Amino acid sequence: MHARRQQENKHDQIAHAITVDRVSKSFGERRVLDEISFVQNEGEVVCLLGASGSGKSTLLRCINRLEVIDSGRIEVFGDLLGYEPEGVGSIRISGDGKLAIDRQSVGMVFQKFNLFPHKTALENVMEAPVCVLKKRKEDARKDAIAELKKVGLEDFAGHYPDQLSGGQQQRVAIARAMAMGPRLMLLDEPTSALDPELVGEVLAVIRQLAEEGMTMLIVTHQIEFAREVADTVIYLDGGKIAEQGPADQVIDNAKSDRARRFFAAARQS
Ligand SMILES: Nc1ncnc2c1ncn2[C@@H]1O[C@H](COP(=O)(O)OP(=O)(O)OP(=O)(O)O)[C@@H](O)[C@H]1O
Ligand SMILES: [Mg+2]
Repeated sequence: MHARRQQENKHDQIAHAITVDRVSKSFGERRVLDEISFVQNEGEVVCLLGASGSGKSTLLRCINRLEVIDSGRIEVFGDLLGYEPEGVGSIRISGDGKLAIDRQSVGMVFQKFNLFPHKTALENVMEAPVCVLKKRKEDARKDAIAELKKVGLEDFAGHYPDQLSGGQQQRVAIARAMAMGPRLMLLDEPTSALDPELVGEVLAVIRQLAEEGMTMLIVTHQIEFAREVADTVIYLDGGKIAEQGPADQVIDNAKSDRARRFFAAARQS
């Protein structure tokens, strides 16, 4: 399914989009991420699965520094995101200026769509390109319309969020993230706040991004979708990576009993 990406990777040197190296994070006494390490290649789609509370959202939030890690190191396209080197081998939190610049390469889509309620779909998509990237309004408008078209919403450009269905709002949220030209998209349960009949339209947009070669790290409970779209599935358990590999291997032939039970239950839901 990802033949184009794989072909590209065969000829080019494979770049790491994300490098997570022995990252730990605690909230109070609770160690939510426990020495997590993995790499994700550019052009790869990774789905992050695991029980509630296993640390999926925390890991995603650490990658674009919505949470500050306690130890370890995270690189996005080979650079620290929201941190800077301090002496030999150690890092410190960077200022807001560097953080804002670093985050420009990363789009984030949450369970709740978080659109500006007083702005139309078009204005929501134009906002950051104009305010952050300083794009000219006419250019931003043209690009925003193109992004809305890609998610099938060019006819809804003038609608306010409360005039759109949940599925449409989430598609606007994806268009808004894409309008910044990210190299990496982080999606945290992008369909779990939706009525079941609206899930498919959002998954279709994500599937299309995957086919275009977008690098994505997706937290999802939709295991059949993960099977279809993911190059690699990571199963988190208690803040550790318990399983990692191609979807079929992890979902159908998990090594640990807990993972097998998790996937058996997920298949039935
Ligand atoms: N800001 C925070 N302060 C304190 N505890 C937190 C905070 N954020 C997360 N936690 C705790 O960390 C643990 C992991 O949370 P996280 O949201 O990463 O899990 P998750 O795998 O995304 O779960 P879900 O599938 O329910 O979304 C939970 O026990 C949660 O209560
Ligand atoms: Mg979560």
